[in-house]
Amino acid sequence: MKFFIDTANLKDIQEAYDLGVLDGVTTNPSLMAKEGIAGEENVNAHYKAICNIVDNNVSAEVIATDFEAMISEGKALADIDDKIVVKIPMIKDGVKAIKYLTSEGIRTNCTLVFSAGQALLAAKAGASYVSPFIGRLDDISFDGLQLIEQIVQIYDNYGFDTEVLAASIRHTMHLVQCAEIGSDVVTCPLNVITSLLNHPLTDKGLEQFLADHAKVNG
Ligand code: G3P
Repeated sequence: MKFFIDTANLKDIQEAYDLGVLDGVTTNPSLMAKEGIAGEENVNAHYKAICNIVDNNVSAEVIATDFEAMISEGKALADIDDKIVVKIPMIKDGVKAIKYLTSEGIRTNCTLVFSAGQALLAAKAGASYVSPFIGRLDDISFDGLQLIEQIVQIYDNYGFDTEVLAASIRHTMHLVQCAEIGSDVVTCPLNVITSLLNHPLTDKGLEQFLADHAKVNG
């Protein structure tokens, strides 16, 4: 399973990368705004800075919502670096844009996916990744993990190449359950990745080992 970090914060991206387990980054307009990145030139420079940290798979989202503008924005984003994956919203023109960009050899990530039908459309259009938002479904009392299960099943039934990228991950159990289901990728904040390290018995056991060693070694 690939681990992506869901942030535009360079420090967090570097920290996750340094841990040695990072396969990519997902951003969105809200995450870019959170870092105070504004204006085309600054936005593009920030994407380049992210690409300079990680080995591959940097999702950069288009702002346009009509086909022609999404195509031109998508191409411009893809030109920033070979590591860029163009993130396109699950709307009618978005599906057309995914189909077009895929035919041009540009990788895409279909975002804002909340149903199996939408995921099927994204795969039919040739998206490299589909991003179902688990946490936001849970927030409105729908089972986000059940959606991941459905999409994995559907893609397996037909051998779609589109990778399931579970997004809007809120905690480690989301991540672990996605792994059990067979999601290809999870994207989550740094704290979810680092929280995987934690277990009280690990801390207790290490403390005991070091104390016993010190008893005889001083
Ligand atoms: O990047 C898309 C998704 O991961 C957003 O998550 O926490 O804003 O629902 P969240």
